Amino acid sequence: MNKIAIKPGIYWVGGIDWQLRNFHGYLTQRGSTYNAYLIVDEKIVLVDTVKHYLFEEMLSRIREIVDPSKIDYILSNHVEMDHSGSIPRLLELAPRARVITSPPGEKGLSRHYKREWDFQVVESGGVLDIGERTLQFVHTPMVHWPDNMVTYSASDKLLFSNDAFGQHIATSERFDDEVGWDILKQEAGKYYANIVFPYGAQVKNALRAVEGLEIDMIAPSHGVVWRSLVGEILREYGKWANGETEKKALIVYDTMWGSTEKVAFALMEGLAEEDIHVTIRNLNTSHISDIMTEVLTSRLILVGSPTLNNGMLPSMGAFLTYLSGLRPKGRMGLAFGSYGWGGQAAGEIEKVLRELKWELPLDKINVKYIPDLEELEEIKAEGKKLGKLVKK
Ligand code: FEO
Repeated sequence: MNKIAIKPGIYWVGGIDWQLRNFHGYLTQRGSTYNAYLIVDEKIVLVDTVKHYLFEEMLSRIREIVDPSKIDYILSNHVEMDHSGSIPRLLELAPRARVITSPPGEKGLSRHYKREWDFQVVESGGVLDIGERTLQFVHTPMVHWPDNMVTYSASDKLLFSNDAFGQHIATSERFDDEVGWDILKQEAGKYYANIVFPYGAQVKNALRAVEGLEIDMIAPSHGVVWRSLVGEILREYGKWANGETEKKALIVYDTMWGSTEKVAFALMEGLAEEDIHVTIRNLNTSHISDIMTEVLTSRLILVGSPTLNNGMLPSMGAFLTYLSGLRPKGRMGLAFGSYGWGGQAAGEIEKVLRELKWELPLDKINVKYIPDLEELEEIKAEGKKLGKLVKK
């Protein structure tokens, strides 16, 4: 294996998970990487590890550079097992290594692995002198778990950001400019929408904590290293954390005999007449984690289901459970549906949108059996009304 240096004396020694397609429910069409970095200074520091089943790959990469028994510190920026999963086996080969982590990190690692490791617990703002470099630790709780921290090397102008700024992409490329902004913006956005969406306030705190640092490279724990697009990704994170949206609409629906779909497309026509960009997603053909990427930037979100067994379709129930957990704020919404009798689904959807505290300027649309041409014109007019409102 070739050595992959990201800075002089700092090497990428992670694992590439080419076949990963499901990351706790998140559809990872492009796979992922778990990034570990080896800093070779007077002290040898491994920054994070990889999922347990990629341990051998990480070890081979480390062995190209140093004998693993020489590792002085394993720096655990985050307890989640995609990053800590190889610590137990590595410690067998690096018995003198101390495990550096935050106070919640120590508790979390102890609960996960039930071992008494030689921990060095660091506070936010704490530093560690490793020779030519001094590493600085900044706690970033809830980006993504309570234990998260980032590590900064001032002499390298390098931030090891762990989950923040990550992307689920399996690739042989290691740097942002080798992949390109179009793909990375999409994948970093999907990552943000599905992993850290509920923690906008904490992301803002994290951005504030690092804004005074001189950074020319961000090395996250998933995907490629940011070296050419650092400004771009920091700017997007700022927008996402502030809940900034675009004047565009997303229609999410499922349908049984096609009536709810007719409503969805009539709404789209009305919105399009107001020149609103519309994306339509059918829950049968789109994964909820991809739909969340659209939710991230859409100001208006219209959600529809027919009534089945006195409630909404199970696919819509799953989507709304996922959406509610990720808690997007400040959206404008509309519930819609169709029914034969009962007709509860649209009301149930509206209740969830209300609980999210979205603005609901129009009453729900609920059509009995099959909408006729006159009803479809009325629905289109409702779409136009929403289009005018979202443009304001
Ligand atoms: Fe990539 Fe929260 O772990």
